[in-house]
Amino acid sequence: MNAAIRAATLIGRSLGAEVFGIERGYRGLLEDAIVPLLPAEVAGILREGGTILGSARCKEFHQREVRDRARTVLANRGIDGLVVIGGNGSLTGALHLADPAEIGSGPKLAVAGVPASIDNDLGLTGLSIGVDTAMNTIVEACDKIADTATAHDRTFIVEVMGRDCGYLAMTSAIAVGADLALFPEAGKPEASIVDHIVDTVIAVRTRQAARRTRRVIIIKAEGVGIGVDRLKSQVDARLRERAPDADPSGIETRVTVLGHVVRGGRPSAFDRLLGSRLGNVAVRALAAGESHKMAAWMPPVDLPPEVGVRSLADPYCWIVDLEAVLRETENLLTGKSPLARWRAGVFDQIEDARLL
Ligand code: F6P
Repeated sequence: MNAAIRAATLIGRSLGAEVFGIERGYRGLLEDAIVPLLPAEVAGILREGGTILGSARCKEFHQREVRDRARTVLANRGIDGLVVIGGNGSLTGALHLADPAEIGSGPKLAVAGVPASIDNDLGLTGLSIGVDTAMNTIVEACDKIADTATAHDRTFIVEVMGRDCGYLAMTSAIAVGADLALFPEAGKPEASIVDHIVDTVIAVRTRQAARRTRRVIIIKAEGVGIGVDRLKSQVDARLRERAPDADPSGIETRVTVLGHVVRGGRPSAFDRLLGSRLGNVAVRALAAGESHKMAAWMPPVDLPPEVGVRSLADPYCWIVDLEAVLRETENLLTGKSPLARWRAGVFDQIEDARLL
């Protein structure tokens, strides 16, 4: 996110704007925690993970009167354009904050979103800031886990974040060369998840003779509605039934929950570039008089012109309608969008081809 803050600051200033940073998101906005952003403040921040401005959950922002207070703070500061860097909740807040029906005859306010969430659950953007760094962290962790798994012929279930979205689990499973990916979009009941794991373990152990290929790595998205402890005990019990002659210490699974490790760390080169490009496009959209838009990275579908247009500032970026983004995000999360169906379906082909 720091790359986006840096780009928005430097480009905004070059376009003649005065640029401020709001600390801790909407919570900081309500407390008037607003600081000037000068080139010195954003120098050297590209390599830092997270955000120099801080972040906070702010549930009260769902209330109209709380947003009225936020608009008063902005108006008192003379701020008329806001770049909002965040996920579903932050962008929904932005849409309401600049809703003309809520603003009424009050001072004008424009918003431009920048998608940032390791979950990659936002609609109409191919990627959000943070996803690539998170995937790299998962791959590095799984490569390390694979050493123990290989040495001891073990099965590891590695849980990764992603909220209700399986994107991180799916993509990192391919990048790691895992044996199975478990993700909520598959909609599988608990019993079939357990069976799938057990079948995979038995298949790997029987088909691969070479010691270095006998390990089993399973990547599970946190959104799969069965906790890792419960999953482990069910899988272990079933493995003991199915392979009664196997050495129990070898066949027993191990579990690693990567948790917040996946959420931080030094941003990858790609994320720094993505943040810079999206920050640039968002601030330029505001300067050009746009509002209720989000800077997007190569939407994975062709967009009709009323939904989005390719950015003139960067041909890899699009400026898409914020309301359409939030609608598509909902469709992605409920599995209604063609992209969600494709993501889930493509894994059947991947498994058939034994790419996993
Ligand atoms: O949305 C990003 C995310 O990291 C999810 O993957 C995860 O479920 C959640 O946030 C964790 O939130 P918190 O840090 O508030 O527990």
